[in-house]
Amino acid sequence: MPKHIVLDTDPGIDDALAILLALASPEIVLDGISAIHGNASTAQVTTNALSILELAKASHVPVYKGCEIPLVQPSLLSPETHGNTGLGYANLSAPLNQARAQHGCDYLIEQIMSHPKEITLVAIGPLTNVALAIRKEPRIVENVKEVFIMGGAIRHQGNTTPLAEYNTYVDPHAAHMVFHSGMPMTLTPLDVTYQCIFLKEDLDRLLKIDSPITKFIADSTRFYMEFHDEYQKIDGCVINDPMTLALTFMPEICDYEDLYVDVDISTGVGLGNTFADFYNYEKKAPNMKVALGVRPRMFMELFLERMEKLANSLS
Ligand code: BDR
Ligand code: CA
Repeated sequence: MPKHIVLDTDPGIDDALAILLALASPEIVLDGISAIHGNASTAQVTTNALSILELAKASHVPVYKGCEIPLVQPSLLSPETHGNTGLGYANLSAPLNQARAQHGCDYLIEQIMSHPKEITLVAIGPLTNVALAIRKEPRIVENVKEVFIMGGAIRHQGNTTPLAEYNTYVDPHAAHMVFHSGMPMTLTPLDVTYQCIFLKEDLDRLLKIDSPITKFIADSTRFYMEFHDEYQKIDGCVINDPMTLALTFMPEICDYEDLYVDVDISTGVGLGNTFADFYNYEKKAPNMKVALGVRPRMFMELFLERMEKLANSLS
């Protein structure tokens, strides 16, 4: 039985790759997408989600527009990482479809409550939609099957401040609420994603197929690779979000520890920093499973093989 996935996302180059991986993977069914501010404005990422689905001939997947700003902090978009439109140098056609009328938070609530213990929520942007959904309908905590979150940097340095990863930095208060909600969670922090680099050779392998999908991957990741080179001296680009999605059906890509993890919401230099109580000083029960070890090529082979399959089917 394929897993039913709802994706809360801010596409975003690596978010777009996660959407494509979801569509290319028979182990899962993508039930719907809630869009969240982050890499670009909510209006822009909603449009991006619709365009990506149309590019992949999957316009049957509904898209819902979610929150436009973080709970407390001012908004922080990331044009230097993902480009002004959020999709690097890609220039997708404007979507023919529109987002559904329902708000993204209400969609999350309705989807989870009408399918108790059946929905896997994959959250790969700032956690504002998820936090507000919990506040509006706390029973989603017991009714969601599981939650996979891309966010945080446990032992790794931050990618937005020296201490904080982007998704937890942009809405630390939402991350705090979700982390302490009691939902069954798996966290994919930078500790593992920064070991999985999509290389120029990987792109060249995909470009052997002439398809709108491979063209999109090339145009978007070229921008992302330039960012990684200029800001972090990394050759290639880190594709955090598809890796998080992959763990929903191929958990053996990573090794995990059950840990008590918190996020800094004080107003100092550590805002958005995520930290684990490895020695259990606080005597608190673990609140999540954290991916801390990874087999990078296992993930990359899966990703490349699925992108080839999708590209071939649409070439
Ligand atoms: C996360 O931040 C965003 O820029 C990416 O899409 C990813 O979800 C990585 O820190
Ligand atoms: Ca993202």
